[in-house]
Amino acid sequence: MTVILAAQHVCKQVDDHGRSLLQDINLTAQAGEFLSVIGPSGSGKTTLLQCLSGLQSVTTGQVELFGKPLTHLTASQQSQLRRTELSFIFQSYNLLPALSVLDNIALPLRLTHQAVERQKIEAQLAALQFHADLKQLPAQLSGGEQQKVAIVRALMTQAKLIFADEPTGALDSVSRELIFSRLRHLAAQGVGIVMVTHDIELAAQTDRAVVLRDGQLVAEYQTPNEATLLAALHEKAVLTNA
Ligand SMILES: Nc1ncnc2c1ncn2[C@@H]1O[C@H](COP(=O)(O)OP(=O)(O)OP(=O)(O)O)[C@@H](O)[C@H]1O
Ligand SMILES: [Mg+2]
Repeated sequence: MTVILAAQHVCKQVDDHGRSLLQDINLTAQAGEFLSVIGPSGSGKTTLLQCLSGLQSVTTGQVELFGKPLTHLTASQQSQLRRTELSFIFQSYNLLPALSVLDNIALPLRLTHQAVERQKIEAQLAALQFHADLKQLPAQLSGGEQQKVAIVRALMTQAKLIFADEPTGALDSVSRELIFSRLRHLAAQGVGIVMVTHDIELAAQTDRAVVLRDGQLVAEYQTPNEATLLAALHEKAVLTNA
């Protein structure tokens, strides 16, 4: 088993008021593991994903990616690592408004000097039942279509670790299943997946689920099931390893 992500005692405070967004987070992920993060709105899930990937700095504690502590890397080494090894599906999609669908998807490929194969991009979009024109701008797309573009953009590169923040939030049930099985397939090929979701049914199909509440990991379930996760979300769960 290869640990590709390890967070130790991670705390995140917001500078101005010293408010604590994350408290003493300890979390690891293995290559090929599909991990889900659930928790109420505002519990710190997006902040956690951003701290784990180095997009936000931690206040105290340490994050290691592929065995390297992020603090040992320069800013440019960190962004190189993010470009080559990591992929992100952002909750707010983060599509560049001035770029077409095609150019948005091609951007990470261009940044890593990889070939942009239009046919491959079209096939990936079609597989998610996206049928809009590739020349369109993000603002011309529906929320679900934007989310599909963000997903295809994230999945075009050969990332070894994918951070997905509510990747199915704006999608219909068919697209949701398609995305989930795509992520499942990538995990089977050795890619690590850390997925934030409000969708308990999906979280119950991941390898491990962790529950975040008020910035703290309050429970962790290996091969979770829906009933346990629902109870953990609605009750005052204590740290368990069921
Ligand atoms: N830079 C910041 N400065 C101050 N407060 C912040 C900052 N970033 C996030 N917060 C606050 O931290 C809390 C956690 O935010 P976060 O976006 O991580 O929650 P979340 O669990 O992803 O919520 P949601 O399910 O709604 O996406 C929220 O109360 C948010 O307002
Ligand atoms: Mg969020």
